[in-house]
Amino acid sequence: MKIDVVTVFPEYLSPLDLSLIGRARQRGLIDLDVHDLRRWTHDVHHSVDGAPAGGGAGMVMKPQPWGECLDELVFQRQGPGEEKPRLLVTSPAGRPFTQAMAHELAAEPWLMFACGRYEGIDQRVVDHASQAMEVTEVSIGDYVLFGGEVAVLAIVEAVARLVPGVLGNAASLDDESHNAGLLEAPAYTRPAEWRGLEIPPVLLSGDHGKVDRWRREQALLRTAAARPDLLARLEAGSLDERDRLL
Ligand code: ADE
Repeated sequence: MKIDVVTVFPEYLSPLDLSLIGRARQRGLIDLDVHDLRRWTHDVHHSVDGAPAGGGAGMVMKPQPWGECLDELVFQRQGPGEEKPRLLVTSPAGRPFTQAMAHELAAEPWLMFACGRYEGIDQRVVDHASQAMEVTEVSIGDYVLFGGEVAVLAIVEAVARLVPGVLGNAASLDDESHNAGLLEAPAYTRPAEWRGLEIPPVLLSGDHGKVDRWRREQALLRTAAARPDLLARLEAGSLDERDRLL
């Protein structure tokens, strides 16, 4: 998978050199480039923002550097008929990022992230790019960050671990999909007793059927407590008789 990230703070993306993503890059599973938007500015101050049309607080990212950036990274790089990236523009006003969207993005051959800053990017950048490629404005939650860089870190990590070969133990992905729509049960590791607290004995019983049932119940209870909205959205068909007795 190819990933391009365009930002005015390339250093913000340095965690992508580390850990499992760094390894996936070294192994050639992910080809990731971070680009400094200021490369496409022409004034001495390398300015990327301007006052909002219509007035108001804050600054808006100018369309010109973004336009030239996309011209170079997308249009001048490819021959006629070749694929274009899926462009993701981070914004608190975007579509909510979910595990389902992570799966959707993991199936794309080429992702390009545009990190918004300040009060966002001039809307014409999205409108113009949409004429040539699929563009999705995406939010990682109902809160406002200084910019999209942290959102990109979160999205790239969620997507990269779904790319085949990135995760050492693919079985942990299976577990997640079994649990679809529910939070995971709590996890424990030895010692069996720590500071007077015990691992639930069923987990040490060796009875896989009982362990699965216990995890299912805990997942339902945890979801009901922390995310009743998820439980309400579960399809009735995904609950079995024993779930209903809980
Ligand atoms: N930029 C600022 N806040 C954001 C958010 N919640 N999600 C994505 N990008 C953002």
